[in-house]
Amino acid sequence: MDQRELPIGVFDSGLGGISVLRACTALLPGEDFLFFGDSANAPYGEKPLSQVRALTLQAADSLVARGVKAIVVACNTATSAAISLLREKYPGLPVIGIEPAVKPAAQADNSSSVLVMATPLTIQEDKYQKLAATFSDQANVISLPCKGLAELVEQGRFDGPELDDYLQALFLPFRYCSVEYIVLGCTHYPFVREAIRKNFGRPVSIIDGSEGTARQLRRQLGARGLLRTGNTSGRITFLNSDPAKLSLCQTLFSREY
Ligand code: DGL
Repeated sequence: MDQRELPIGVFDSGLGGISVLRACTALLPGEDFLFFGDSANAPYGEKPLSQVRALTLQAADSLVARGVKAIVVACNTATSAAISLLREKYPGLPVIGIEPAVKPAAQADNSSSVLVMATPLTIQEDKYQKLAATFSDQANVISLPCKGLAELVEQGRFDGPELDDYLQALFLPFRYCSVEYIVLGCTHYPFVREAIRKNFGRPVSIIDGSEGTARQLRRQLGARGLLRTGNTSGRITFLNSDPAKLSLCQTLFSREY
């Protein structure tokens, strides 16, 4: 079979990676995509590293078994925990990860303080610690582990009093800090971008890494001659380890945020 015709596998611990899938389909509308969300095991960001590694390898194996020409790890947590293992295991396959968009935030003209929201595991891992240290001479990089936030998104709470209370408490220590940028370092968080903006309560730029990841996917496929040609629209297939989440996948894919 012509490798170019195979779908691109996109994987997340749950529903969050749909924010990355959207960026990928916008950039590569002619490609087929197979999205797998491991909602039965979400959240990953509050589990031990060894367990996240095992779950990530298992999810990637299931995509490879179905036949994909690339894998996008649309999860900051799984990327920090297991991207090197995946690349070792599948040397012939492009494996694209995502990391918190600290670089563009720290290098922006008007930026002196950057607040990075991510899961506890992402923040604890070396990969993120090195990233934050690299840009610490360009901005004050403040790391904010958001225990429980991905779970609220998994439950479909995109607004409402429970989310507002959570965010108010989370942002309380930053009430008197100047912050120009918030980096959404977990792919679930773009779905609550407006609630984050509202509860932060001051003008702030909010960015995430989904477009950078989509561009990296296009570069990697192009470099290997794996981009599809022609102008037919691609198909998107959703798979989830928790079948009850499948209808929410479609809703999230088309939802404004
Ligand atoms: N969406 C994932 C990320 O980007 C993590 C959510 C979770 O904790 O499962 O980090």
